[in-house]
Amino acid sequence: MSSLPTFTIGICGFGTVGQGVWKHIERSRATLEARVGAKLVLACAAVRDLKKKRPVKIAASKLTDDPLAIATDPKIDIVCELMGGTGLAREVTLAALSRGAIVISANKALICAHGEEIFATARKHGGHFFFEASVAGGIPLIKALREGLVANRFPLIYGILNGTCNYILTQMEEQDAPYSAVLGDAKRLGYAEADESLDVLGWDTAHKAAVLAFLAHGTWVKPAQMIVEGIDRITPGDFKNAAALGYGIKLLAVITRDFSTGELCVRVHPTLLPESHVVAKVSGVFNAVSVQGDVAGTTLYIGRGAGQDATASAVISDLVDAVSLLKNDRRAFITARKRSAPARPVLACRLAPPEHIRGRYYLRLTVSDEPGVLAQIAAAMAAQHVSIASVIQSAQEPAGAASLVLTTHWSNERALRATLRRLARLRCVLEKPLLLRIGDFSE
Ligand SMILES: NC(=O)c1ccc[n+]([C@@H]2O[C@H](COP(=O)([O-])OP(=O)(O)OC[C@H]3O[C@@H](n4cnc5c(N)ncnc54)[C@H](OP(=O)(O)O)[C@@H]3O)[C@@H](O)[C@H]2O)c1
Repeated sequence: MSSLPTFTIGICGFGTVGQGVWKHIERSRATLEARVGAKLVLACAAVRDLKKKRPVKIAASKLTDDPLAIATDPKIDIVCELMGGTGLAREVTLAALSRGAIVISANKALICAHGEEIFATARKHGGHFFFEASVAGGIPLIKALREGLVANRFPLIYGILNGTCNYILTQMEEQDAPYSAVLGDAKRLGYAEADESLDVLGWDTAHKAAVLAFLAHGTWVKPAQMIVEGIDRITPGDFKNAAALGYGIKLLAVITRDFSTGELCVRVHPTLLPESHVVAKVSGVFNAVSVQGDVAGTTLYIGRGAGQDATASAVISDLVDAVSLLKNDRRAFITARKRSAPARPVLACRLAPPEHIRGRYYLRLTVSDEPGVLAQIAAAMAAQHVSIASVIQSAQEPAGAASLVLTTHWSNERALRATLRRLARLRCVLEKPLLLRIGDFSE
């Protein structure tokens, strides 16, 4: 082994993921080094609090509280940015790329906010940026899009990208439990962050959707340009209504591209999926992504979307690619070059206007329980050419209120938004309506 080339790794962030990467490299060192044909030196790790006790032990001399010192150290070949956030993480990433180093990141928020700048810096200075762990954890989805499916264009990609939300929705459905109670349990069990908003309001999924849209279509879509709706207004009653209609409810990212017009749509919202659909059956913290390619057809990926081991697996996969690149293995070099630049040239791509985003809808209304209400609601919908497909009515608290659940025939986002505005003006509508999309995806 002594004649093997040696590569030095610095880890910025020694929390859940950083410790997982360190632990698994140490555990599998012999196999990894044999596979990659190089010696891997774990040189140092940066943390915020040097005194914190950590399950994975490393020599105090290898710990620093200065991640920028790792990023700028010319002896470090590969910098892993595993701190999170978009401030210092950006500085560390740009500093390392600016000296031509390789950066590996699990940070979808950073990529979503600063991806253009990061890739431009890598191109300018000959650095390389790898990010397999940023979407869908242990599922090698980015590799699948960039390499296995490189011959394809992608009219449709959709799936579950946030394990916390999928856990909460699964528990609500299975236990018939309200959102707040399940969220409390999820926090106690460590499945949800103390501040859950990034997950449950859909933003974490939106960051990942932005990364996937960039990979598939070579263009950056900001979360502010997407439809982003979370799971926080869903009730156990919605699961019952959905089941009565033959559906389950999942928080999905949906990326559609119409190649005849160039229009792209990226959205994140709770979606009714037919109970028999394979993605509807993916429960708990698991992720599931369906990728429709115009050459390969549909491929489906299911696995652990987060957690120490699954995420470390993805980071180490990037590390092995990075080492192959540094060894100047030509085949790997070409692959890595493809990773640093957009997956494909930026095609003329524009965001679909709301009237071109078509679908069927589920609308839950709390209304006053009196004659003529359904007629007023039907009229508000008809004014926007939204036609009703089914109605479920049930009594509801407080006394004198009723719950109305309507599904629509095919319509579009502009018509539904206008309908919601009209409904909000009706005196008989007592609460803000809940709008869910119905997912008409073939598997
Ligand atoms: N956890 C997952 O399952 C998962 C899955 C996929 C992707 N990711 C992504 O991976 C990244 C890391 O996540 P994580 O769960 O491992 O986070 P974490 O457990 O909170 O760890 C963050 C680490 O970064 C260090 N750090 C933070 N700010 C720092 C600063 N200013 N200076 C020096 N060190 C600093 C922390 O130091 P201290 O330990 O001293 O606080 C900690 O060691 C994030 O981008 C996350 O989105 C995580």
